[in-house]
Amino acid sequence: MTSVSESVGIAFVGCGYVADLYQATLANWPQLLSLRGVYDLDSARQQQFAKHYALKQFDSIEAVLADPGVEIVVNLTPPDQHYAVTKQCLEAGRHVYSEKPLALDFGEARHLVELAGKQKRHVVSAPSSFLGPAAQALYQAVRRGERGKPRLIYAEMDDGMVHRIGYENWRTSSGAYWPAENEFKTGCTLEHAGYALTWMVGMFGPVRRLVSFASCLIPDKGPHTPPDYSTPDFTVACLEFDHGLVARLTNSILAPHDHQFRIICEDGVLSLDETWSFSSSVRSFPIPTTRLRRGAKKLLGLDFSRRINPERSRGISTAKRGYPMDFTLGVAEMAAAVRNGSTPRLAGEFSLHITEVSLAIQHPEIFGVEYFPATAPAAVEPMTAL
Ligand SMILES: NC(=O)c1ccc[n+]([C@@H]2O[C@H](COP(=O)([O-])OP(=O)(O)OC[C@H]3O[C@@H](n4cnc5c(N)ncnc54)[C@H](O)[C@@H]3O)[C@@H](O)[C@H]2O)c1
Repeated sequence: MTSVSESVGIAFVGCGYVADLYQATLANWPQLLSLRGVYDLDSARQQQFAKHYALKQFDSIEAVLADPGVEIVVNLTPPDQHYAVTKQCLEAGRHVYSEKPLALDFGEARHLVELAGKQKRHVVSAPSSFLGPAAQALYQAVRRGERGKPRLIYAEMDDGMVHRIGYENWRTSSGAYWPAENEFKTGCTLEHAGYALTWMVGMFGPVRRLVSFASCLIPDKGPHTPPDYSTPDFTVACLEFDHGLVARLTNSILAPHDHQFRIICEDGVLSLDETWSFSSSVRSFPIPTTRLRRGAKKLLGLDFSRRINPERSRGISTAKRGYPMDFTLGVAEMAAAVRNGSTPRLAGEFSLHITEVSLAIQHPEIFGVEYFPATAPAAVEPMTAL
């Protein structure tokens, strides 16, 4: 990270579950970031958070924006609040780092990016894990042609049966409970596709074409099921990039936890097991072209892969559920850009593209074409002895 002489003043708007994760990783950036204070619409929650961490409290968003020391507002409100909060902050001449997505509507997200341009301010949307050491090690391996030309990406953002694994007890150290109803309503695709998409778009440029399938497979998720719940809890999309590169991206809150990111290249595979961990190992696998190697794999499990990133990387475990990811990295990168007069890597059009593609994957009925087959055979009877 480029060194800057003076730290950049920031404020958190929204003191819920994720705010703890930002607060915990703020300590990674003492030279770059200085937290001026926090604000939450829910004053009880604001007090609980601010007292726990001994932080200054603002009594309104207007008070946040009246503080000339606040240069970047970190928008940590729920997704349905992102547009209004970010808009207000941009209009007041602040840079905004927003949790994802930029907005729930593509037109509104585009408006925010246009507004930022008019105001000569930056708007960036999380996630920023692509800037972390594991993703960057993978990126460097791609750029130096470690395994030749990339042809296909498989990325999974599966989180297990979230409604069956005791989320009721997920609580941050300052006391916020995981906002289940809102998470289910927003949907795992809008919540999580961005993690894999930012890596793909960061490395290979924009998505040029996509086809998606989305479905709500478990409409009753228990007591926190939102009213009229139909948000997809499973999506799978095929995405095409320039030069014919294709990716398959899966999102679900049903299938067993799997956050692999694999790039299949002409001479092997570059692979990472956990996109949410900054210290996830990045491995390079050769194609087992000889019989000896195929035999060694089959009999002994030897894959002849090698780790290509250092064993340990920065990123601290920030919650009981263990988030070995630096949530504040993106804010720090933005602050460095603000100080240097450059553009943050994930600003404006980049964040807008991630929001657009996430929305298109979650809503094929709006953005895509669905085909309903005319033929409809019955399921086949199980085999019996012939
Ligand atoms: N929960 C997670 O594990 C997680 C992880 C990564 C990112 N995120 C993202 O972080 C964002 C926030 O999620 P969360 O889990 O912290 O939600 P949350 O509901 O726990 O917290 C949001 C907080 O914002 C406050 N708020 C609502 N409207 C507001 C407004 N207009 N002004 C000020 N405060 C307002 C609420 O009172 C609440 O305390 C979402 O965009 C989510 O996608 C969540």
